[in-house]
Amino acid sequence: MLNFVYHIPTKVLFGKGQVSNLAREIKSFGGNRVLLVYGGGSIKKIGLHNAVVSQLNAEGIFFKELSGVQPNPRITSAREGVRLCKENKLDFVLAVGGGSTLDCAKTIAGGALYDGDCWDFFCGKAAATQALPLGAIMTLAATGSEMNGFSVMSNDEMLDKFPTYSEALRPKFSILDPTYTISVNAHHTAAGTADIMSHIFEQYFSNLTASDVPDRLAEALLKVCIKYGPIAVKEPENYEARANLMWASSLALNTMIGLGKDGGDWAVHFIEHELSAIYDLTHGIGLAILTPRWMEYVLRNDNIEKFADYGRNVWNIQEGSASDIAHKSIAKTYEFFASLGIPMNLREVGIDELRLEEMAAKAVRLGGATGAIGLFRRLAKPDILEILKKSL
Ligand code: NZQ
Ligand code: ZN
Repeated sequence: MLNFVYHIPTKVLFGKGQVSNLAREIKSFGGNRVLLVYGGGSIKKIGLHNAVVSQLNAEGIFFKELSGVQPNPRITSAREGVRLCKENKLDFVLAVGGGSTLDCAKTIAGGALYDGDCWDFFCGKAAATQALPLGAIMTLAATGSEMNGFSVMSNDEMLDKFPTYSEALRPKFSILDPTYTISVNAHHTAAGTADIMSHIFEQYFSNLTASDVPDRLAEALLKVCIKYGPIAVKEPENYEARANLMWASSLALNTMIGLGKDGGDWAVHFIEHELSAIYDLTHGIGLAILTPRWMEYVLRNDNIEKFADYGRNVWNIQEGSASDIAHKSIAKTYEFFASLGIPMNLREVGIDELRLEEMAAKAVRLGGATGAIGLFRRLAKPDILEILKKSL
């Protein structure tokens, strides 16, 4: 294992009724003037908006609202939120919703203490080294944004979608009440499960050996998704399924299963962000389509044991050679995503060959001068184009 610092400071309030602690938590982190950020209205349908607003009013906490944050959140929403914070001298940002709402809130929290344009955090011009304190009430199990310092934003003018990372963007607290995820439809429940699993794969598939603690934890979390994803899709009101997915989502990307490892591969994520940037595709759907194709493409004799570990420990495939187990585990991955009702080809989600070349070229930008992304196996533009073609 490599050296690491363990410091995952977000306070988590997990379970039914935890929203009643909201005002106390906001005040404990110095919040008196809040920007309440949410999406297209799902929080109103489930009564959460009302619960939040009445508590803020009852506790005498001043607030302004920013609504309408879209899935694949746009930088224009964040700019509006920054303006509201600066004009009203707000001192706390509260996100209520899914990962898109929270990522937008993080960008606003950073942008409120920055003199330039908040897109600078995403195009590499600046880092969000300081931010207003931020809290979250999550309503969808997927991104892990509730415990990490990542934000991913889209820019419609450039058709770009980029991540940024800063410790300053970690939420001070996150309220995770699985009850609020019961209204998530089958499409987003399946996509969320695929996203959680992809975060685990991105960190699990590395060339380091003897990283048993993070890898065995990762396998356990994958098994949780495989067990509870289908239950949540078929029985949306199953609390235990929703609760297990919600906590798995946080642990998959709060940096815990990456400690002692090499930072992760992330090639599938970088390729998917190009699909979402141009076609506004749901993130988890793109990941589910790309992942089995990426697995087949990167599988080589020198990494076959990693895939065999995955097959034996996650899918319980014990018979056959390492190569047999590796290929079977990839087939299992594909079948699992398909069983959740996810369309498993790009054409089914409206993407044809027209812009594959452009997306392959854009996907390698985060590799900088090397012209390649991924750690488990380096991928240059022709490799990515091949993976995209196999995904059609
Ligand atoms: O906008 P509303 O009306 O709230 O509806 C949302 C949206 O349409 C709906 N929804 C959310 N909670 C609901 C609900 N509908 C009914 N009941 C509820 N309780 O679901 C739709 C999708 O919401 P969104 O927030 O977009 O989903 P998700 O949480 O999957 O977030 C996806 C975004 O996060 C980014 C993705 O790229 C994508 O932009 N990611 C963020 C990461 C991070 N910050 O760590 C890492 C990830 O890899 C990912 O890239
Ligand atoms: Zn993701």
